Amino acid sequence: MGLARNSKIAKTTPLTPGSGIGSTIYPTRAVRLTFSAALRRPQLSDMAAIPNLLTGLRGGSRGRGRGRGQANIPGFSDASSINPATRFPRSEQAIRATDTDAAVSRLSAVCAGYLEDPFAEHFVEAASATRRLPIINRGTYTRTSAIDRLVDLFLAGSGERQIVSLGAGTDTRAFRLRARGERVLYHEFDFPDICAVKKSRVDAGAIVKLIDKQDGLTDYHIHSLDLRTIAGKEATDFEGLRINIPTLVISECCLCYLKVEITEEVIQWFIKRMPSLSIILYEPIRVDDPFGQQMVENLASRGVVMPTVQKYRTLKDQEERLAKLAFVGVSSESTDKIWDRWIDEDEKERVNALEGLDEVEEWNLLASHYAVIWGWTDESIFQK
Ligand SMILES: C[S@@+](CC[C@H](N)C(=O)[O-])C[C@H]1O[C@@H](n2cnc3c(N)ncnc32)[C@H](O)[C@@H]1O
Repeated sequence: MGLARNSKIAKTTPLTPGSGIGSTIYPTRAVRLTFSAALRRPQLSDMAAIPNLLTGLRGGSRGRGRGRGQANIPGFSDASSINPATRFPRSEQAIRATDTDAAVSRLSAVCAGYLEDPFAEHFVEAASATRRLPIINRGTYTRTSAIDRLVDLFLAGSGERQIVSLGAGTDTRAFRLRARGERVLYHEFDFPDICAVKKSRVDAGAIVKLIDKQDGLTDYHIHSLDLRTIAGKEATDFEGLRINIPTLVISECCLCYLKVEITEEVIQWFIKRMPSLSIILYEPIRVDDPFGQQMVENLASRGVVMPTVQKYRTLKDQEERLAKLAFVGVSSESTDKIWDRWIDEDEKERVNALEGLDEVEEWNLLASHYAVIWGWTDESIFQK
């Protein structure tokens, strides 16, 4: 793996000046600060609203519950009751709600100055916007920056490249890459109801306007799919999906919600079809210690089960998981170490100055329970 330790993680998209709080244009820094100040103050209970890093530690999450219910889905691991209002089982609602939480956390990190992402505000309804605690903002920053860094390594190779984001939700990476001129073919998969909302936001035009490129948002596809049903599909079922170019699959807190055997099926689906495949996973780990146990219990009380965290408890387990699935190279890092080793000192200083962080021990504890794991079937992919 050619990822240099201590290398500076570049900030993502250049600032695009604009005006207006919550407008379709990215706010200037002055406006951004006003916007930030207008967000609800963070509460300790917000800890619970983070779906991915640090989520589920202390309580519940807001549900969205859109769309139609689906019965008898293979891999569905929840036995709790169906909510008649939404027709989704409770855990299904909670899993869908994690996307809202991710979007709110992203916007919070942007407004506080951690990340530059002019697209984030377009996926959060004003009423949901919440200012997260500094520890949460740092988590969002570290995780986003780490995956961005690996994506950059993947894109640094010559020739056409394809990215597949599993459970992409309202993630903005595709837009950020396009805005900086990347020509990568980008596919996103998520539940039909989540995709419908995303499509409507993209179709509204503001995203394409922000990208500010003559050819706008090309080579971008949103695929409505419950990933638990992918085994019955062919590549040709997904418009624009290529099997003959190097492909990077990203699961940023998505596969962790599926049964272990189904996650294997999903990854195998890509391995079988794509000779040059890389993967990035972002998932919780280390449920064996008291903190990890508490995390699992709190998630369970919300009806959320993360089967992979029970099976792959350590970085070693996670690496072996990929190695068994035909990845010839695998690597991993916990989020606390990513902060320590991947972010250069100047950037750390900048980030530390944004809000200050008193709870350093708590940060280390929380961040050590999440990890980025990456692998490749083609030697050349993550090498530089
Ligand atoms: C925590 S969110 C992460 C969203 C995005 N990857 C990010 O990091 O901002 C998890 C996403 O996975 C999606 N997801 C979970 N299970 C899924 C399944 N079986 N099929 C498709 N999408 C799924 C959810 O709908 C949600 O959008």
